[in-house]
Amino acid sequence: MRIKPAAVAIAAGTALGLLVSGTVLAADAAAGKLLFDKICADCHELKDHAGKPTADLSKSLKQIVARQKKHKKQLKLDDEQIANVAEYMSTAK
Ligand code: HEC
Repeated sequence: MRIKPAAVAIAAGTALGLLVSGTVLAADAAAGKLLFDKICADCHELKDHAGKPTADLSKSLKQIVARQKKHKKQLKLDDEQIANVAEYMSTAK
């Protein structure tokens, strides 16, 4: 059977749409944990951030990345990484 190119294009477009909307809707706390353990855990303990809302954390992180807020280590994170790590940090009890 020959697959019609148009059908392939539609399928690919749908998959891409799901991918993009997926990252917007749900931050990935598991990915955030990996990042936190790798980069942040040298200086931070998860419980230090207990009770901080995700929105506050991501706001602080955006300011740190943009060098608008002083931070001991200059962070280079993209928006998705910020969302994920903020999501993970806000799970602290
Ligand atoms: C070299 C040590 C070090 C590393 C690595 C580090 N931090 Fe920090 N961070 C600090 C210190 C010290 C403070 C508190 C004083 C300050 O703001 O500089 C802080 C403060 C913060 C704050 C609060 C800022 C505010 O005032 O609102 C957040 C949020 C934060 N860090 C997130 C992170 C994340 C996420 C990572 C990993 C991607 C990370 N930090 C890596 C040392 C570090």
